[in-house]
Amino acid sequence: MNWKRTTYCGKMTNQFLGKEVTLMGWVDRYRDHGGVVFIDLRDREGIAQVVFDPKNIPVDVAGTLRQEWVVAVKGIVRKRPEGMSNKNLPTGDVELEATGLEVLTRAETLPFTMHTDSPTTGEVDEQLRGRYRYLELRRPKLQKNLQIRHEFLRTAREFYSENGFWEIETPILYKSTPEGARDYLVPSRVHPGQFFALPQSPQTLKQLCMIGGLDRYMQVARCFRDEDLRADRQPEFTQVDVEMSFIDEEDIYQLHEQLMARVFKNTHGIEIKTPFRRMPYDEAMRKYGSDKPDLRNSLELVDLTDQGKRSSFQVYQSALSSGGILKALCFEEKETLSRSELDELPKKAASFGAKGITWIRIKSPGDWQSPQAKFFDAALKTEIETKLPFKKQAMVLLVCSTPNIVNNTLGSFRLDFGKRFGYTDESRHEFAWITDFPLFEYNEEDKRFFAAHHPFTCPNPTDLAMFMKSSAKADLEKVRARAYDLVLNGSEIGGGSLRIYDPNVQKRMFEILGFSEEDAKAKFGFFLNALQYGTPPHGGIALGVDRIAMILSGCDAIRDVIAFPKTQKAADLMSEAPSQVDEKQLQELHIRVLPPKL
Ligand code: AMO
Repeated sequence: MNWKRTTYCGKMTNQFLGKEVTLMGWVDRYRDHGGVVFIDLRDREGIAQVVFDPKNIPVDVAGTLRQEWVVAVKGIVRKRPEGMSNKNLPTGDVELEATGLEVLTRAETLPFTMHTDSPTTGEVDEQLRGRYRYLELRRPKLQKNLQIRHEFLRTAREFYSENGFWEIETPILYKSTPEGARDYLVPSRVHPGQFFALPQSPQTLKQLCMIGGLDRYMQVARCFRDEDLRADRQPEFTQVDVEMSFIDEEDIYQLHEQLMARVFKNTHGIEIKTPFRRMPYDEAMRKYGSDKPDLRNSLELVDLTDQGKRSSFQVYQSALSSGGILKALCFEEKETLSRSELDELPKKAASFGAKGITWIRIKSPGDWQSPQAKFFDAALKTEIETKLPFKKQAMVLLVCSTPNIVNNTLGSFRLDFGKRFGYTDESRHEFAWITDFPLFEYNEEDKRFFAAHHPFTCPNPTDLAMFMKSSAKADLEKVRARAYDLVLNGSEIGGGSLRIYDPNVQKRMFEILGFSEEDAKAKFGFFLNALQYGTPPHGGIALGVDRIAMILSGCDAIRDVIAFPKTQKAADLMSEAPSQVDEKQLQELHIRVLPPKL
């Protein structure tokens, strides 16, 4: 074929009226109106209507066209007849009167129709979609998502470059860096029995770039984490990874506020207000029960621990005397919750580990309806009501347990009822920096501390003396980190910290995390060494590209913004990876496969 495409189908607008154009694309729909064949021709940019009049193209040629065939059409652009324009399409006023047609390739009958909105097909099975991902990619919505993702990355690259960052590539075959997940390992053929780890993030490498004097680094970095998957997690995902020398938190905050403002301007034409709200971790947990609060939702949790102690409810007494807390979520019951909905509450609470949940319906001040109302005397009722945002037609959900369980349970109910009763304004975009995270998380099962962010995060200077000297659990739990998360609409879209740059502080960190000196040397010797040769104070952040693209394109799952995503079981349905390999390959890699554990 020696025709040249002159424009995209989706760009064939009024400006081409009367002109000859050549389009190439996929047959989206076809119909035969008494010998005159119409097709919608589709490409990445949209759809154009093409008319094959039998006087130009014989019907026994045009009439054979079928869905998803790839064709080239030459013709003259003309106005659609009176009353036939389609206001929903940018090309809806015009059509191409074909003078030439070439079928470039035919298509087999598709495993599913491209038009899921078709009433006859309903929803296409996920497995089938996954196997034919390249057909899914033809869908306009998915193409739009990938365009938005591209727009985000383009804006970011441009922005960082303007601000003095260099894009630096770091190795994929590397050594394990702990970010809290399992590693994907790659066996070495040349070094029998030895393995590379795919990076969970380029954390140590970007810090080494700072030690190397590169000052400002950025990378669109692929990260690999073998962890439990959810709608917003993939085993292989992308970060915009950033590191800077001689800076503090404010430098990171301000720079990234400017970046996000530019991204929203470029992709949606929206002005984002800066600076973003800054909220210490403690406040986020207290008010919203979450370290990634959805601030489009106006509901806040209320602490009733004191009042709970003065109730006569035995369940509260025992939980509160062993260090528990009592908190409430209160909203106006704009539509009365049914009996079965109330019965569902304890089941959902149990999924977060709560042994129970109390509900109280406050019809009007003092008029409480609840199986537990009898445990609160009149004075206590009044006192509680003064702390609640509503005291008429109000529903109050109370959970009494450990702080974690209470916050997780009520934090989740806050999201559910916030949406259900209109407390969440989804037209807004609410950013926040969550700051002052605890440096450590204690794991009861392993009886040891883990780094809440990662082991390279700097302790807060006020808590440094305690960090260096004390080994008491209660002290170390109080140490705050110079770490921050960027939260948008209840999603953690980025996280980072200022880093330890004193080798003694780094050594102490490994010690608290339970690494013996030998262990730390074997795993991080190269890094501890590097810290000794003149390390600038530095810090950085990594933005979750997939999550940001998901929010920008209004999707609920990150697989909708990834061209070739993996399933919830970390597999690729299309290529059927992971898969078995030849015995010969295994031998070369010095690997013997054990039978699966039963
Ligand atoms: P962190 O682990 O917080 O920090 O990751 C940064 C951001 O990456 C995104 N993210 C993910 N997205 C999709 N799937 C996943 N499995 C996944 N895990 C994380 C989130 C998160 O906020 N090295 C540090 C950064 C630093 O300290 O500079 C790091 O990786 O949006």
